[in-house]
Amino acid sequence: MQIILASNNKDKLREVTEILAPLGIEVISQRQAGLRIEAEENGRTFQENARIKARAAMELTGKPCVADDSGIEINAMGGGPGIFSSRYCGDLSYAETCQKIITIVNCCDDHDRGARFRCAVVCCFPNGDEIVAQGAVEGEIGMRIEGKNGFGYDPIFIPCGMKHSMACLTDQEKNEISHRGRAFREFAEKLRAYMEEHPEEQKE
Ligand code: IMP
Repeated sequence: MQIILASNNKDKLREVTEILAPLGIEVISQRQAGLRIEAEENGRTFQENARIKARAAMELTGKPCVADDSGIEINAMGGGPGIFSSRYCGDLSYAETCQKIITIVNCCDDHDRGARFRCAVVCCFPNGDEIVAQGAVEGEIGMRIEGKNGFGYDPIFIPCGMKHSMACLTDQEKNEISHRGRAFREFAEKLRAYMEEHPEEQKE
């Protein structure tokens, strides 16, 4: 089974490819599908933004397309940056952004270092059907930047029950516990059930 992933983020593409490969789903990148789009993410939730990206790609290709929208919610920032996680960096590098967040959390009055990554997955079909899945991983903001793997905020996020940051995990270890791993595994289960009910959707 093949599915087009509506994303230009190579880190996400790598992770999603690895998550879905053992489940027998081959991921075709937006680029491989010949799509050059950057849909405006003006939704109010992760799910709305994922839907905007998936629907834009589906309308252009006429094929089922899946997209995820994800980000980090930090208690000391009132749940932010949330859906603004990719834009929160502005012109800063991820290392600079991570350092900025550590400073904000260190200055927080109630010493609440709690945070979570969230991921919403939406798959849009040409017939108007949709599959929606969600995933989250709880943790806390570390005292320092740590680790070289992963991307984005991984070097400052310590998953619950772990001593080191998400960026110290291999891709496979991260996918087992991550928001994206959870959301895409739920998506894969729902997709399989959907395809059994709608075999016509597998035709080219
Ligand atoms: P999106 O492409 O609009 O979903 O933006 C997601 C942004 O959230 C990324 O650019 C990162 O800043 C952050 N993010 C999402 N997932 C992860 C992750 O697994 N690790 C680290 N940062 C992430």
